[in-house]
Amino acid sequence: MKVVVCITGASGVCYAKRLLEVLRDKGVEVSLIVSESGKKVIEHELDVDLDYLIGLSHEYYENSDLFSPLASGSHIFHSVVVIPCSMKTLSAVANGYSSNLICRVCDVAIKEKRKLILMPREMPLSSIHLENMLKLSKLGTIIMPPIPAFYGKPKTVNDMVDFVVGRILDILGIPNDLFKRWGGI
Ligand SMILES: Cc1cc2nc3c(=O)[nH]c(=O)nc-3n(C[C@H](O)[C@H](O)[C@H](O)COP(=O)(O)O)c2cc1C
Repeated sequence: MKVVVCITGASGVCYAKRLLEVLRDKGVEVSLIVSESGKKVIEHELDVDLDYLIGLSHEYYENSDLFSPLASGSHIFHSVVVIPCSMKTLSAVANGYSSNLICRVCDVAIKEKRKLILMPREMPLSSIHLENMLKLSKLGTIIMPPIPAFYGKPKTVNDMVDFVVGRILDILGIPNDLFKRWGGI
């Protein structure tokens, strides 16, 4: 399984860090793309740098690299996860405006009917944001905002991050026990 992980400039890059760590531990092949704003938010919010995240991945592409193999539907990858997804990237993807590699790889996933998971982060959400999400949802895109549940009685921020990342792994079809499931399984 090859997963493309895209980090854009929304708050919550800790979710991407954890997802990359878990995918590495599970031996999943990962291609990483980070937007310029994503790089700035990583510097601001994380206690690790971009090189650490690149080190967790099999390959890394600049967001400006539209000559990357990932830009073509003829290159096989199974899923794309945009984590976190800014409202700007959400809007570009919803409108097929593929001016960078992250938007292009999402465009490819939609046209090739591959799995596309977006983790949009904004609060409150405007009608523009909601309409963009609805449009993408109707096309089969999975919209997964980082909303933790509390029935598992999380004790730390890491527990809450693991809940969100575990649910993403569920959607990717990767078995995991990152969080307590309802029903005590
Ligand atoms: C510290 C910081 C946090 C931000 N958080 C968000 C956010 O949560 N959601 C969002 O849509 N934009 C957020 N932004 C704004 C985006 O970074 C900005 O719209 C940028 O153009 C997104 O570009 P990209 O999608 O190519 O990464 C944030 C910016 C900064 C500097």
